[in-house]
Amino acid sequence: MSVNLKGRSLLTLLDYSAEEIRYLLDLAVKVKAQSKKGEVNQRFTGKTLALLFEKRSTRTRCAFEAAFGEEGGHPVFLSTLDIQMGVKESVEDTARILGRMFSAIQFRGFKQSTVKTLADYSGVPVYNGLTDEFHPTQVLADIMTLEENFGASAGKKLCFAGDGRNNVARSLMVISAKLGINFTVITPATLNPDRGFIERCGSISAVSGAKIRITEDLAEVEGADAIYTDVWASMGEESRKEERVQLLRPFQVNEALMDRTGRKDTIFLHCLPAIKGEEVTAGVIDGSSSRAWDEGENRKHTIKALMLATIPGCGE
Ligand code: CP
Ligand code: NVA
Repeated sequence: MSVNLKGRSLLTLLDYSAEEIRYLLDLAVKVKAQSKKGEVNQRFTGKTLALLFEKRSTRTRCAFEAAFGEEGGHPVFLSTLDIQMGVKESVEDTARILGRMFSAIQFRGFKQSTVKTLADYSGVPVYNGLTDEFHPTQVLADIMTLEENFGASAGKKLCFAGDGRNNVARSLMVISAKLGINFTVITPATLNPDRGFIERCGSISAVSGAKIRITEDLAEVEGADAIYTDVWASMGEESRKEERVQLLRPFQVNEALMDRTGRKDTIFLHCLPAIKGEEVTAGVIDGSSSRAWDEGENRKHTIKALMLATIPGCGE
């Protein structure tokens, strides 16, 4: 069965099949190779992209703007300080208007329901560029990076140490469950993802063969292909920062934890931005096992692939 994603939104990878995710990852590899060869393409000529941001961003904004703009598309950045949405106008009405002016919409912000409403009312593909619940475009780049280092991701062991219920950890759990990656979340019990979500990922894993584990035991990094971490207090949780630092300090990714894998070739991943000295030491993130910078670059290739695949009228 051939994959056709034209017109599709990406709100969470729960909505995508393993085959569709594979298609996006393969297209990202192709797009990256084209870029490395210096090929110039203009596949977004005549297309427009609205970029809505309630929260800060470096990588996600730049990936969307650079990927779209360099191929002839016109991206428009709209922070919530500039537009009427949420102040004088509902999300539904904003979506109706943006859908008449833009080929696609990216939203970064707080509620998952906002990105869902944008998709429901705009009639164009909508991309979740991070909400409190999910960060789906991030984990496409993460798995692309894992595969660049180790080949096929199915059966590989990926460990996340830190805030186990944040948007990145949850999205890694979803993509791992879909693709058959063995994913271990190492987190204090108070930061476990909610039970309903774990059960949902568990039933997806039953199909793919993924082993999903949630534990407080750092010894579980043994044999890991990759260790991943993220900030201890996500955007919007600034008031919890001190409490999280106390709680998560033992879960820092440092040289000693990397050594506990028992492997010399374990790679380190981080979605970035990183707070060096908190969730990861400078020695690890700036050291030879870190692939965080490749991972950051891969945001652009995966996001370009997503837009090429989903915006109607774009050749791939
Ligand atoms: N990883 C990530 O989403 O980075 P930004 O917050 O800079 O977009
Ligand atoms: N969990 C982090 C990810 C940043 C890319 C946050 O939401 O702030």
